[in-house]
Amino acid sequence: MKVTVLGAAGGIGQALALLLKLQLPEGSELALYDIAPVTPGVAVDISHIPTAVKVKGYAGEDPTEALKDANVVLISAGVARKPGMDRSDLFNINAGIIRNLAEHVAKTCPTACVGIITNPVNTTVAIAAEVFKKAGVYDKKKLFGVTELDVVRSETFIAELKNKEVDTVKVPVIGGHSGVTILPLLSQATSLEEKITFTEEEVIALTKRIQNAGTEVVEAKAGGGSATLSMAQAAARFALSIIDGLSGKNTLEYAYVEGEGEYARFFSQPIILGRNGVEELLPIGKLSDFEQQALQSMLDTLNKDIKIGEEFMA
Ligand SMILES: NC(=O)c1ccc[n+]([C@@H]2O[C@H](COP(=O)([O-])OP(=O)(O)OC[C@H]3O[C@@H](n4cnc5c(N)ncnc54)[C@H](O)[C@@H]3O)[C@@H](O)[C@H]2O)c1
Repeated sequence: MKVTVLGAAGGIGQALALLLKLQLPEGSELALYDIAPVTPGVAVDISHIPTAVKVKGYAGEDPTEALKDANVVLISAGVARKPGMDRSDLFNINAGIIRNLAEHVAKTCPTACVGIITNPVNTTVAIAAEVFKKAGVYDKKKLFGVTELDVVRSETFIAELKNKEVDTVKVPVIGGHSGVTILPLLSQATSLEEKITFTEEEVIALTKRIQNAGTEVVEAKAGGGSATLSMAQAAARFALSIIDGLSGKNTLEYAYVEGEGEYARFFSQPIILGRNGVEELLPIGKLSDFEQQALQSMLDTLNKDIKIGEEFMA
């Protein structure tokens, strides 16, 4: 397997590169690309870690070499939030970056699975889809908005609140990746297959905390950026699931994908990852009244975010 990280010199990119060097299956290749001149140095640095994963770094304007023969491409290139900013404030800069990088992916490794981390994810995924469509290579089973951090945060916060072993907590998160479009399905949360129950107040407070968790980090970093280390862990976990799937081991994940369009063209939902990317779209299950209402009231925002991406490309 060859995994390419675009934006590899950034806060997320470097941590993600480190985690992939430590966790990718033996014999894998890791390509690190960023416009920043430090990138080959990041690769040399990481290459001294003794694991059976080959690392190479590329800098400059052209990611072609880094993308050659990639099976999985993870994109975290772009700018991150500062305090007071919304994810949509990043659109003006990041939209063009995603368009450009997606064009290179379409040309060089059109059959790779592509995970987009760059915000606003609700919109950048729509941009990439349109680029791939234009190039005639769009496969909706292979394009993902990476919303794993919302799942990771939900598991962590639930375990803290309910005194559970964090690695036993499972909880679906659906919708999109910003504010009210992030909807953890607390009514379906389990630990060791057992249902976890919450009071009404807990549901309201926890849902809000999960939706605002990104801002919690942005404010705590006080101008130094947004979540990087937890995001890198979430992206590594998601990438390893993609690789498990491509290697024939079907894996349950949650990601922002083009599904059947029941709620929005792109929607984060449970999926089975397999040899072809998304092997199966799973239903979101039974929602509580609170979740049903939250779902209905997010759709306007989510659909608008998607439209912005489609219109940018039109
Ligand atoms: N999906 C999520 O859950 C999630 C969570 C946190 C952050 N993010 C997003 O991830 C993105 C990156 O965040 P970060 O903290 O790593 O930012 P960062 O500023 O630390 O790193 C971004 C990197 O992108 C590089 N870059 C810029 N333009 C490029 C281009 N055209 N080609 C290649 N590389 C390019 C920069 O040189 C930099 O190294 C932001 O958009 C942020 O909002 C997403």
